Amino acid sequence: MPLDINAILAETRGRNFELFEDHVNPVFVKVLRTLGFNRSWVRGEGPYLWDEAGTRYLDFLTNWGVFNFGRRHPAIRGALQQVLDSDFPGWVGFDAPPLAAALARELVKRMPPGLDTVYFSNSGTEAIEAAIKFARAYTGRPCTAHLAKAFHGLTMGALSLNGEASFRRGFEPMLPGSSEVKLGDLSGLEARLARGDVAAFVVEPIQGKGVNIASNEYLLGAQDLCRKYGTLMICDEVQSGMGRSGRFLASQWIENLRPDIICLSKALSGGYIPVGATITRRAVYDSVYDTMHRAIVHASTFGMGNMAMAAGLASLSVLDDENLAERANELGARFRNGIEAMVPRFEFLKGVRQRGLMIAIEFGQPESISLRAAWSMVNKMDENLFAQAIVLPLLDDHHILTQVAGHAMPIVKILPPLNISDADVDWFLEALEDVMVKLHKFPGPAWEVLKKLGSHALTAKRREGRAATI
Ligand SMILES: Cc1ncc(COP(=O)(O)O)c(C=O)c1O
Repeated sequence: MPLDINAILAETRGRNFELFEDHVNPVFVKVLRTLGFNRSWVRGEGPYLWDEAGTRYLDFLTNWGVFNFGRRHPAIRGALQQVLDSDFPGWVGFDAPPLAAALARELVKRMPPGLDTVYFSNSGTEAIEAAIKFARAYTGRPCTAHLAKAFHGLTMGALSLNGEASFRRGFEPMLPGSSEVKLGDLSGLEARLARGDVAAFVVEPIQGKGVNIASNEYLLGAQDLCRKYGTLMICDEVQSGMGRSGRFLASQWIENLRPDIICLSKALSGGYIPVGATITRRAVYDSVYDTMHRAIVHASTFGMGNMAMAAGLASLSVLDDENLAERANELGARFRNGIEAMVPRFEFLKGVRQRGLMIAIEFGQPESISLRAAWSMVNKMDENLFAQAIVLPLLDDHHILTQVAGHAMPIVKILPPLNISDADVDWFLEALEDVMVKLHKFPGPAWEVLKKLGSHALTAKRREGRAATI
């Protein structure tokens, strides 16, 4: 009998959390239950998700930036359907897959001059692993430099470049010689590069954690230093690339920025098939694959699959056909204007960091005495709590999925699909306004929920003897 996926979905609906607890990750289920994210999703289309009660949600989490084109985009589905229906063989192994060659050609067209060669993998972290290995091979040096608060993935090499200690804890030692430098501090970077052992400086032009936007001066200065000391500059555009920032690459906002390696993933998948790409100069590539003996010295069994390559090709054409990088700029401005207009009215609301549709909403200590008391109460309970005070009612009361921007940051981040409507932006702005109105009443019901959540966090902290991040 053919496998009936719908029957499996029906049979597990509502029981998925128990099953996941039993056989996958019970701690994550606890987090979902504590935050009220334990909903049963039954449908996704465009920027929306529906739960089993038929309620429609706006997905501004987008699996951390995967769904630039929303869910079930017809052009991407159509391309994948063609691959499924064709008898063209993939993964022959000893082959030069034509769809990979075609996707590489399309990516190169969109790169800064000189970046003409692509290595394909299956995730963001693998794109970074390849970049680290390529930089080591090309320079003959062992070390790397990365920024505080950086996130480049969680495999060992990428983890060594993680600017957040809690991710690394328990997995040490990291790659030898990985050094953290501060965003904006060119003299700190120079001091590190001057030792002459750094293969690569790895940088997100816009950091995913907190949406910290590196200035043009910093990135151009870092580029000069990299050239001066023979270090390769790697731009991690896994999240900021694919039109998200309002250009194809966030680094393309800066004239004359010419990274040696660019990493892409996430939205290149079209929201369907994981894919990663590490794009570099021919000379760097040749330093890795330098003899026939070493022709596949860095590779992966599932790299360059037909489905992944078709998803990548379809994603690029949707981005162009629908002019979505430009649309990201228009929509980003609408968000920014709407949020900035609220700042004078709400003491907790401090501002917005935004480029295209990478958006962080910043909160901070209020002026008035009673709200200050509320602010210090929640921050004492848990430094991650305040941002949850926004994320939770956005989900519960307004049916919008958002995220806390990172550990111990009073910042909420949104990564909407690039093809949402103006009405979707207004849905969010009205929701944010309502959440703000309620949070500015202390004491009040909005704070009761937080207190409950906070006491949960305190109990967890005591039990675990370390900071519980919820
Ligand atoms: C900037 C950046 N680089 C790398 C990664 C790692 O990608 P993946 O989760 O596909 O390994 C992420 C994931 O969030 C990211 O945001």
